[in-house]
Amino acid sequence: MTKLMNDNAIANIKTSFKVIDLFAGIGGIRLGFEKAFKSNVDFVFSSEIDAHSQKTYCLNFKDTPHGDITQIEANSIPSHDIVLAGFPCQAFSIAGKRKGFNDTRGTLFFDVARIAKYHKPKVIFLENVKGFVGHDKGNTFLTVQNTLQELNYKVYSKVLNAKDYGVPQNRERIYIIAFLDHGVKFEFPEKIKLSKSIKDCLLPEVNHKYYYNGKPLFQRIKDDIVNPNSIYQWRRQYVRENKNNVCPTLTANMGTGGHNVPIIKDSHGIRKLTPRECANFQGFPDNYLIPTDTVDSHLYKQFGNSVSINVIEQLAKKILIALEKK
Ligand SMILES: C[S@@+](CC[C@H](N)C(=O)[O-])C[C@H]1O[C@@H](n2cnc3c(N)ncnc32)[C@H](O)[C@@H]1O
Repeated sequence: MTKLMNDNAIANIKTSFKVIDLFAGIGGIRLGFEKAFKSNVDFVFSSEIDAHSQKTYCLNFKDTPHGDITQIEANSIPSHDIVLAGFPCQAFSIAGKRKGFNDTRGTLFFDVARIAKYHKPKVIFLENVKGFVGHDKGNTFLTVQNTLQELNYKVYSKVLNAKDYGVPQNRERIYIIAFLDHGVKFEFPEKIKLSKSIKDCLLPEVNHKYYYNGKPLFQRIKDDIVNPNSIYQWRRQYVRENKNNVCPTLTANMGTGGHNVPIIKDSHGIRKLTPRECANFQGFPDNYLIPTDTVDSHLYKQFGNSVSINVIEQLAKKILIALEKK
C-alpha cells in the first residue's frame, strides 16, 4: 500500500486508542505513534526511571513519567489498548537461564508481560537492539515470543534499518509487535528511498566546544578526517570513514568518549555532533525541545537510547490500519 493510501485510510479512522509508554526514555516511540495516530491516541500512563530523561519527556509531553516499573502494580495502571516498550537490552544478561513465564520475573521484559497479563491490551509493541535476536543463541528472543504466545498473542517480528525508512542513520533494531486478536493481519512497512542526506541533519553553525581543534585527540585524527561530506567514527584507537552516506548508529555512550563516536569535518574544523544533530539523525522534529540545563553527556545518552521516529511512525500506521481492517 502506498504512503498516500495509508494516509487516506488513517484520515477516516475515528476510533481512539488508549496507550501506555513503558521505558519511555524521551518519548521517541510515543512521538512516532502520535504522528501516525494523530488525534486517535490518548496516552494514559508512562514510566521512566531516569530523572534526566523524565525531564526531557515532561518538557515535550507535559507529562512526568512514573518511576521504576518493577515497583508499579499492574492494577494501578489505567486500562489501555496498546503498550509501548523499548525495554533495555541489559536486562537480558540472565535471561538464558530462565524457562518460562512463571520462572522469568525479575527481567524488565517480564514487567511488560506482567502488565499485559493483567490488562490484555490489543497490541504489545516492543523494540530492542538487533543483537537481541541472537542473544544466548536465540533463546532470549524465543523466550519473549513464547511468553507472548502463552499470553495468547499473535507475534510478528522483523529487523528494520532506519536508513530504509527516511533517516540517514544506519540503525538496525528488532521490532516485535503482538496482537491479541489473531484475526488481525499486520504487514511491516515497505522500505522507502532515502531522500535526506547527512548534510540535511547538520547545523550550519555550532558552539566551539564541539570542535576537537587544539585538543589532544585532534593531532591523532586530523590527517585521517579529510572528506567533509562523510561521517567518521572514533573507534577508541583510530577513526574509520563511514562510506555509505549515512550516520553510524548513535549509541548511548557517545558523550563519554565511548566506542563509535561520530565525527565530522566542516569549514571550521573537526568536531563531534551536537545533541540537536543527534536528534535530527533520529528524525525528531525541529520543534522537539531539548532542555538547556541538562549536560550534553545525558543528552547524548537520551538520543542514543531513543529510536528513529520515522521507523516508529511507519510501523504505527501499519498497526492502526491492521486494527481497523478487522
Ligand atoms: C532503550 S531506552 C528506551 C528509550 C525510549 N524508547 C525513547 O524513545 O526514548 C530504555 C529506557 O528504560 C529506562 N529504564 C530502565 N530500567 C527501568 C525501570 N526499572 N523502570 C522504568 N524505566 C526504566 C531507562 O532509563 C531508559 O531510558
